[in-house]
Amino acid sequence: MKIFLDRQSSKPIYLQIYDRINRLIKSGALQPGDHLPSIRSLAESLQVNKLTIIEAYNILTAEDAISARQGSGYFINTQPLKNTNLKQTFAPAQDVIIREPGSNSFFDMHMAAVQAQTQPEMINLSYGVPRPPKDIMQIAKRALKQADALHNYDLPQGQLTLRRQIAQMLVHLGLDVSTEDLIVTNGSEQALSLAMYHFVKPGDWVIVEAPTYFGAIAILENLGAKIIGIPMTAEGMNLELLEQYLKSHRPKLIYTISTLHNPTGLTTSPEHRQKLLTLAQEYECSILEDNAYEGLNFEPVPSPIKAIDKHNIVTYVGTFSKTLMPGLRVGYMVVTGKHYQPILERKLFHDVHVSSVSQAIVSEYLASGHYRRRLNQLRSENIQSRNFTVQAMEHYFPASAKWTIPKGGLFLWVQLPANVPIQAISQEALSYNILIFGGSGFFPDKQGYPAMRLTFANSPQDIEQGISVLGKLLKRSLCKEFQSKGKYSKAS
Ligand SMILES: Cc1ncc(COP(=O)(O)O)c(C=O)c1O
Repeated sequence: MKIFLDRQSSKPIYLQIYDRINRLIKSGALQPGDHLPSIRSLAESLQVNKLTIIEAYNILTAEDAISARQGSGYFINTQPLKNTNLKQTFAPAQDVIIREPGSNSFFDMHMAAVQAQTQPEMINLSYGVPRPPKDIMQIAKRALKQADALHNYDLPQGQLTLRRQIAQMLVHLGLDVSTEDLIVTNGSEQALSLAMYHFVKPGDWVIVEAPTYFGAIAILENLGAKIIGIPMTAEGMNLELLEQYLKSHRPKLIYTISTLHNPTGLTTSPEHRQKLLTLAQEYECSILEDNAYEGLNFEPVPSPIKAIDKHNIVTYVGTFSKTLMPGLRVGYMVVTGKHYQPILERKLFHDVHVSSVSQAIVSEYLASGHYRRRLNQLRSENIQSRNFTVQAMEHYFPASAKWTIPKGGLFLWVQLPANVPIQAISQEALSYNILIFGGSGFFPDKQGYPAMRLTFANSPQDIEQGISVLGKLLKRSLCKEFQSKGKYSKAS
């Protein structure tokens, strides 16, 4: 059991210990019947007096959260609380961002995230990956039995069996897709790149949500597009502003993450989807719909925009990176009508096709029925960790912080007062082994946005420690700001 103590805090140490254990019980990380560390061992590991632990355990006992059993120590005896009363407070500024081609920070953000994986002490609140599937070795062995079929070059659009399975999966989402509309890609990043290079030429205008996925901004910058960032509201991209810019700039493409948006976690309504599609149609603009978090919803979400697209306006992108393993690099795209062939040809000269071994593993996973079970497990783990993250923020974050409450996916978005130096706070958090992504990288102009994206796909202990430290850093920064303003007003 990891307990982080803030020895500079005015809160007594025994109350901090009580608080942490209480929260671990409420989150479900400590379950009824679990054994607590002995008084002596916890005192030693936290380097505090045994009386301090006894005081904390006494309060928990008095509250009926734990009980002592003669000769065996302390055990948890409460039921974990389910929080059904989470408040979403997201209310972003509505400034449109216009971005001429320039450099991007995708490389730096990706490298920071990958390097964090090699540091076991690091609490990674920056980006989310699913935990590795336990049965992957068994599935991979079965997949490799077809080695004969795997040793040669294959179709650029991907294996037929896998495309059939993906098409069936998409039918459940309301998409009427045939295997002839599908291309299996090296992750959805490649699908985004193939689509963006197909629909957009250097100098063309493209609309993205602001904030949006930084890997998509990077591709657009790389191809020399001019980017318009339309602000998000709590309902999705601001459609009034979208219409204005469709009219004035005549963009070629709208890139949208309509479901479990990265980074905000928001999902748009069926009405919003219909209106977005109608506008795109009216102004002859293609839509690229990125559904990277497909399947990770723990509340119902509407069908994708592609499901209501009758005129081949929407290209749809999905991936197995967020539900199985990003290392497999298997994503896919649905391209209908005249765009299919040129995109497929582009795919061929990029990398011929996706690794047949990876495709066979995903295919075996889908055939086995394990995939459905895996999604159910991920959803039930993720809802718990989302709830726990929100509870921890309510507890530790300053009252001025606002956040979204996603219906699934892996991220939520925290907006902070304008004066919070989020870059400096990210740096300081690193010295506590906590990695976060500040908000700026998710906007096309990357200017200092006082916001951060947090993943909730972490253990309760890591969430508790990460959020409590971040809360302390945020409060301290706001307090400094308040004091410096006080000094200034006295002097002036
Ligand atoms: C919204 C979104 N799209 C696409 C991707 C790319 O993922 P992959 O290439 O692993 O499928 C990501 C990865 O984080 C993402 O968040």
